[in-house]
Amino acid sequence: MTDMTPLRLGIAGLGTVGAGVVKIIRQKANLLASRTGRPVVITAVSARSRDKDRGVNLADYAWEDDPVALATRDDVDVFVELMGGDEGPAKDATEAAIAAGKDVVTANKALLAHHGHALAQSAEAAGRVIRFEAAVAGGIPVVKSLTEGLAGNDIDRVMGVMNGTCNYILTRMESAGLPYDEVFKEANQLGYLEADPNLDVGGIDAGHKLALLAAIAYGTRVDFDAVELEGIGSITIDDIKHAADMGYKIKLLGVAQLTGRGLEQRMTPCLVPATSPLGQLEGGTNMVVIEGDQVGQIVLRGAGAGEGPTASAVMSDVIDIARGTRISTFGKPAVELEDSRAARTSAPAPYYLRMMLDDKPGALAKIATVLGEAGISIDRMRQYDHAGGTAPVLIVTHKTTREALDSAISGFEATKILADGPVAIRIEAVS
Ligand code: HSE
Repeated sequence: MTDMTPLRLGIAGLGTVGAGVVKIIRQKANLLASRTGRPVVITAVSARSRDKDRGVNLADYAWEDDPVALATRDDVDVFVELMGGDEGPAKDATEAAIAAGKDVVTANKALLAHHGHALAQSAEAAGRVIRFEAAVAGGIPVVKSLTEGLAGNDIDRVMGVMNGTCNYILTRMESAGLPYDEVFKEANQLGYLEADPNLDVGGIDAGHKLALLAAIAYGTRVDFDAVELEGIGSITIDDIKHAADMGYKIKLLGVAQLTGRGLEQRMTPCLVPATSPLGQLEGGTNMVVIEGDQVGQIVLRGAGAGEGPTASAVMSDVIDIARGTRISTFGKPAVELEDSRAARTSAPAPYYLRMMLDDKPGALAKIATVLGEAGISIDRMRQYDHAGGTAPVLIVTHKTTREALDSAISGFEATKILADGPVAIRIEAVS
């Protein structure tokens, strides 16, 4: 028999995403009721300012200044947390909601990357669920894909471009031939950057997302501290042009992979083949590539941010709860999640190296010697555009370990012939 008991939401945070969720619930009431078998309603909302015009009618809902009070109201079944932040009100209210017996839907990647395991444990101990589709890659249903659609696979690798702002900056640098600083300013003016831009360009936001996907893919406790993080700030227009000459694009690429060395999690600039789906990803769009032992490669592409796409992801979790679909936060019970066994080194790969040498006899020979001594073989090398007593040098290595590369980089520094650099970018094997 159909359960006509309404599912009652309390929404904390009425920014772009919160307003988008309110709109969907108001405009699609019949669709939601027919798909879930019961009405989905909002009973109360909370945000920093009550007076702000958000373009949605909030008159039907109770107002709470304090998100904790909202989260613990008797007439709220699901606490929808759209405030953001890994500490403070978002964490307090989420914990309070769980303690008060509510299910939680959140878009908060930072909160879950730092406290996901503890929150999942307390929710599951209380018989509650935490769902977070909107926290990773906006509108792309990647959490659902991993926890449900691909649950019959061992996951070989999860990769993704999951920060639209960085992909916008890198692709705009290439298409307009503009330097990083100028495109960064442009992105800021367009409102693409987070309040703390380092969350975007430092790779932190994307790193949070990768840590969440890795936990689901490998059944491990979310371990953001183990993500090797490197932002896009040192990528120059020259790097982008050289990469293009060799048939590659530069992406801020996340890779999670379980190998004999343990779980590797990297969110770093990488070269990927220009012809691959990841290489062809333009602008602020996101892409997640999942490789499963049975299914092969799955490519998911779509909007990683914005009102409609992110609200769409929030609604998929709300709809699951309304339907009675209850899945553990990370795809298996939190008490059974294993330690992530972080890998101390990453899988060997070829590297792109760019450096500026003092233009003196023997300079290049010293660099080649250091690489040889570190056991690194050169695949390609070129010098270009000499200027003012310095010589820019570009080297592509054969496959090597990051350890050997780091030892070579220390060796370069010891030669005292470096005028600048080196910039080292991994070349990721993707098809
Ligand atoms: N700032 C993020 C991005 C969206 O640019 O993709 C929220 O995670």
